[in-house]
Order: sequence, then C-alpha cells, then structure tokens
Amino acid sequence: MIVFKTCQQLLNYLEKAKAAGRKTGFVPTMGALHAGHTSLIRLSKAQADITICSIFVNPTQFNDPRDYEKYPVTIEKDILLLETEGTDILFLPSVQEMYPSGLQNGEHYNLGHLENILEGTYRPGHFQGVCRIMDRLLSIVQPHLLFLGQKDYQQCMVIKKLAQLKNFSTQIVIAPTLREKSGLAMSSRNMRLSDEAKEKATAIYEALKYIKENIGLMPVATLEQQAKNKIMQAGFEKVDYITICHANNLQPVEEWQPHAEMVAVCAAFIDGVRLIDNLLLQ
Ligand code: PAF
Repeated sequence: MIVFKTCQQLLNYLEKAKAAGRKTGFVPTMGALHAGHTSLIRLSKAQADITICSIFVNPTQFNDPRDYEKYPVTIEKDILLLETEGTDILFLPSVQEMYPSGLQNGEHYNLGHLENILEGTYRPGHFQGVCRIMDRLLSIVQPHLLFLGQKDYQQCMVIKKLAQLKNFSTQIVIAPTLREKSGLAMSSRNMRLSDEAKEKATAIYEALKYIKENIGLMPVATLEQQAKNKIMQAGFEKVDYITICHANNLQPVEEWQPHAEMVAVCAAFIDGVRLIDNLLLQ
C-alpha cells in the first residue's frame, strides 16, 4: 500500500493510473476502521483496479467540538487493516493540506430540504462540512466509483446531491449496513461505549425492527412513539428522533401507504455517545 499525505502526490499518481486505463474505487473514511469499512474496501477491490481509501477526521463536520476531540483515532491499527485487505492507496492528509485557506468561510452548498431535517436539525452545519470535505476529496480523486455505507443514510443522499451540484461523473455505490451479532450497527463511535452500553444499544435495531414488523398495523405516530419508548426503556439518555420517512427524499410519512418505499431512521444518545441507524421497511 502506498501512503500519500499531499494532494499533489495523489493527483500525480492517479493521473498516470487513469491514463493507463485503470478504474478507480474510492472509500472515504474518518478512520477508526471496522468491518463496515472493510466491506466497502472489498466491494471496491471487486469492482475497480485501484482502491483508494482516505482517512481524515474532518473538523468542519463536527458541530460539537467535544465530539471532534473524542473521535477515536487508531491510525496504526487502521493501516494494518487496510494493508491486510489489499488496499492500494491510503490518502492521509493533514488539516492544513485539506483546508489551506483555513476552516472558516467555505463555499455554501445548496442542499435544499436535506440540510434542515433529521441530522441537519440536530447537527447544524454538519452536512455543509461533509460537502466541503467530499467536494475537495472528489475533486482530487475523481474516482470512477465511490463507496458509502447505508448506515449514514442521509449523508448518502447529501453526497449524491453534491455530486449532482458539482457534476461529478463518479458512480455512487451504497453498501448495506454491517451489524454486530447483537444487531448493533457497526460504527467507529461504538468504541467509546462500555460493554454494558453496547448491549443496551441494540435497542435501536430492535426498535427499528419493531417498526418494520408493525408498519400498517397502527397509526404511524403511535408506532414511532412506541419505538421511542423501547429505546428509552433500554437505558438511552435521549432520542433525537425515530421517524418513518419516504426512502427517496426523507420526507416524513404521515400515514402508511402500502406501496410507498419507506425507511425508519433513528438517532439517540447512550453513555453520552450519539448513535444513528436506519432500516428500509420493504
Ligand atoms: O462518513 C464518514 O466517515 C464521513 O462523514 C466522510 C464521508 C468520510 C466525510 O468526512
């Protein structure tokens, strides 16, 4: 695996690789890698000639500075894992490299309604930060294929919107969420949970499954309230939301419609750690 720390080094390498007709697959990450990331690397290796992974804990997407400070960093372990998986390139830039003009006053991306619902409501500015870094990364890597995890459902939609706004020709592949045996969605933030909290945290998946099993059997608002109660009863401190939405635009579903494609999305705090998850209801 080749490790590049500057954009110019990566650009030079990719220019030659693309000129030689090699197909590129890109897996952007913030490190603290787990099997969910590995599954994206494997998908990329199966579909592209060169797999590039980036590790960059992006400061502009953290609305809560404490969350940024506490974000797990396991770089040596990550490098070993990426090497074991046969990753071709690791891009490991500094903050200065990615934001040479500083963190303030970036471009504003017109994300429409996606900006101010769900994650956007509870994490103001988060998606602008995601767009700033993804815009920069995609402009440099210009991959044929981009691999993202479905766990960050709204983020996937935002990045698709960014790709449209910026006319990136990259094909976006969304891979299913990987789960622990317990059902807990894999996440770098799980590293901050005690064993006891990890066990309790499975309540999110249980609540999402409860919604899937009971959709159409009671009013949507009742089902959402019951799902929320289940999470709180398991020992969560706070549920930001557990909501049934239309899968294609994340608008709330007011009333169940038998043929509509829907997704249940959730964000909740346990042990001071904010976890998100979602489940397609079809
Ligand atoms: O999901 C993540 O790890 C990050 O939000 C991403 C897409 C790498 C952008 O920083």
